Amino acid sequence: MFPQNVFPDTSRINSRGQLTIGGCTAQALAQEYGTPLYIFDEATLRNRCRSFRQEFERRHRNSSVLYASKAYINPALARIFQEEGLGLDVVSGGELAVAQRAGFPLERVYFHGNNKTPEELSLAVTLGLGRVVVDSFHELELLDRIAREAGKTQNILIRVSPGIDPHTHSHTTTGILDSKFGFSIQTGHAAQAIRQALAARNLKLRGLHFHLGSPIFELEPYQAAVDLVLRFAAGFREEGLELAEFSPGGGFAIAYTRMQQPPSIGQYAETIVGAMKSTCQELGMELPQLVVEPGRSIVGPAGVALYRVGAIKEIPGVRKYVSVDGGMGDNIRPALYQAVYEVVNASKADHDPDETVTIAGKYCESGDVLARDVALPRVESGDLLALPAAGAYAPSMASTYNLNPRPPIVLVGGGRSHLIRRRESYQDLMRGDVPYVPQPAARGGH
Ligand code: LLP
Repeated sequence: MFPQNVFPDTSRINSRGQLTIGGCTAQALAQEYGTPLYIFDEATLRNRCRSFRQEFERRHRNSSVLYASKAYINPALARIFQEEGLGLDVVSGGELAVAQRAGFPLERVYFHGNNKTPEELSLAVTLGLGRVVVDSFHELELLDRIAREAGKTQNILIRVSPGIDPHTHSHTTTGILDSKFGFSIQTGHAAQAIRQALAARNLKLRGLHFHLGSPIFELEPYQAAVDLVLRFAAGFREEGLELAEFSPGGGFAIAYTRMQQPPSIGQYAETIVGAMKSTCQELGMELPQLVVEPGRSIVGPAGVALYRVGAIKEIPGVRKYVSVDGGMGDNIRPALYQAVYEVVNASKADHDPDETVTIAGKYCESGDVLARDVALPRVESGDLLALPAAGAYAPSMASTYNLNPRPPIVLVGGGRSHLIRRRESYQDLMRGDVPYVPQPAARGGH
């Protein structure tokens, strides 16, 4: 059965058993743009943006949704997010440059990161970014100095670490005591940071932020952390902390496999807004502006990776390796986090599975396996394999390892496709290389 739950909203199987997305067949897209190819469904992207806004705003009018650019951003996508009324969370000068290129309103941009450089912070202040989310004492002092020298006041949030485990992969857990992110509440550093921020002449402390990790399949960690951080904030009212803004970050899960059933956007909203309202009421606090930062849950379900099958190798009694023309260079997640994906044969999407195979990439590394032991209808060289839920943290974490060019990205909808990132060329791969002509002495002469 076709796992519709992990594919974009517009995905269908046509009468010839071919996968179509946004009205385009996988075959036609592969023919036009080549493989490997990333396909983003515009309708799914927009639907996810609208659901986030509706579900949060319906429960708390003063809510904002920022798209976490690290999940994947380029100028075309930034425009869509802008049109949908989202803000942006950026974590580098590079992501900020994309926002600028797209003409994104910079007062809706929040700058995150545990070690922003002095150059990045200067840029943030000069451009007038909405917020800088301060993550260390070093940054607190540096940013105050930079703002003073620029004759400006920078709006900030303090990122606290509530010490709550969201039960996800250790590489993507952030809000616990042993973390490089944020100021720990437990150690007293968060309290010290708030006092220091309130005293800083060129910083305006607007509120607090935390982020627990990603992806978080449970609702309770959000509930517990919202309650804990609000109680913590209430303790600073007399010292002058007005909690105008409050952010529980992102980390909302999506389904990667047919069996996974993460909470809906509405359930996350209900939990977060519910916890915020009840704790604020109990403490007699005014409701702050609520800021959420979904990345994966917006772009993940909209993206499908398309690969062409090449070599097939059967090791009798062991396993059958089906190699495709992409792999860990365009999607590092299986190798890095043991992430599990569905795979569908886009050429025979309506056939029942009749063999179990392992989908390997083309990179020179044994760990370059995209999916282990997947049941598929008999795979042949030349078939197209689709790997769904691939929009988040695959293109954005892509590398040019083995000097394989990174794949193109197309946006599909209404039977049309639009290239939003072209395939890298061999020239692109060498663009930064500078020729070196050794002088005679350097050649080992005397
Ligand atoms: N806000 C902050 C402060 C974050 O650190 C992150 C993600 C987000 C928002 C967005 O989280 P999302 O809604 O996308 O789950 N490379 C890993 C994920 C790393 C997430 C880093 N921070 C992966 O492929 O699973």
